[in-house]
Amino acid sequence: MKKDLLSISDLSSEDIRLLISGAVDMKARGWLSLLDRKLLAILFEKPSLRTRVSFEVAMRQLGGHTIYLSPGEVGLGERESVPDVARVLSRYVNAIAARTFSHQTLEILASYSSVPVINALSDLEHPCQALADLFTIYEKKGELNGLTLAFIGDGNNVAHSLMLAASLVGMNFRIASPTDYRVQDRILHLAQDYALGSGAEIFCTEEPRLAVSGADAVYTDVWASMGQEAEAERRRQIFGSYQVDGELLSLAKEDAILMHPLPAHHGQEVTEGILDSPKSVVFDQAENRMHLQKALLAEMLGGLEIPLAGYR
Ligand code: CP
Ligand code: NVA
Repeated sequence: MKKDLLSISDLSSEDIRLLISGAVDMKARGWLSLLDRKLLAILFEKPSLRTRVSFEVAMRQLGGHTIYLSPGEVGLGERESVPDVARVLSRYVNAIAARTFSHQTLEILASYSSVPVINALSDLEHPCQALADLFTIYEKKGELNGLTLAFIGDGNNVAHSLMLAASLVGMNFRIASPTDYRVQDRILHLAQDYALGSGAEIFCTEEPRLAVSGADAVYTDVWASMGQEAEAERRRQIFGSYQVDGELLSLAKEDAILMHPLPAHHGQEVTEGILDSPKSVVFDQAENRMHLQKALLAEMLGGLEIPLAGYR
């Protein structure tokens, strides 16, 4: 694997298979002494529940330690330049998990850091979420190749990483978004390139019903991401017909699963209560963040050969 994980495009399909296999293994084995005397800095410009806690628990369960630097604490790019923060942290810790607004901030951090930098969410991508999501789909369905994932809503960071990851592993990806809220062209073209190699089909539409029809997994996310709070009301109007409700979900396969990275806005992108329905796997997704990140940290920091126990 590359030194840093900033984008799903830093991984090959083989890397993704290895990480999913590692997550299967980590989930079965629990606490392990693999990262004794290793330190992870968690450097966040935005709030978090799952990402922060799952990284903290992942490190502790592997025998390592974390240092959490909250939004505003470091003044990334304000109190101190991003290159200087990268060079200083590299003298103290073995890796940095960073959550930033601008994706470019992460790229600068990584280029000046001598230790691995992991994207813990930027405005462009959320690769750790997408990897845990593929692991969750694999757990529920026993395969990825040839399945169909339908994403309903904003062509945002979560959609970008999922689209790239699905197209690498041969999973069909459909996305329904309003015209001005589609995925970025550059990401779409990259995914289309990957799909040529994997056999995945990529389909973009404005019509949620077309995307969901016959899908194995239905996925949605908030309409206004962190940093877009001022647009929230306007987005509520525009995305009104993109709400995932029981009727839309009934167009997917009978055994389809419902996915959301959380936090959710109940009554907006999903109807009240639908995330508590039997089809919903959202809390498995949240738990799997930790298992997948244990495999990732072991691979990046431990130089561990992860046995191909589960995923093929
Ligand atoms: N899904 C996710 O990344 O959640 P947090 O923003 O709480 O970390
Ligand atoms: N798209 C959301 C994901 C949160 C996990 C955001 O960026 O706020």
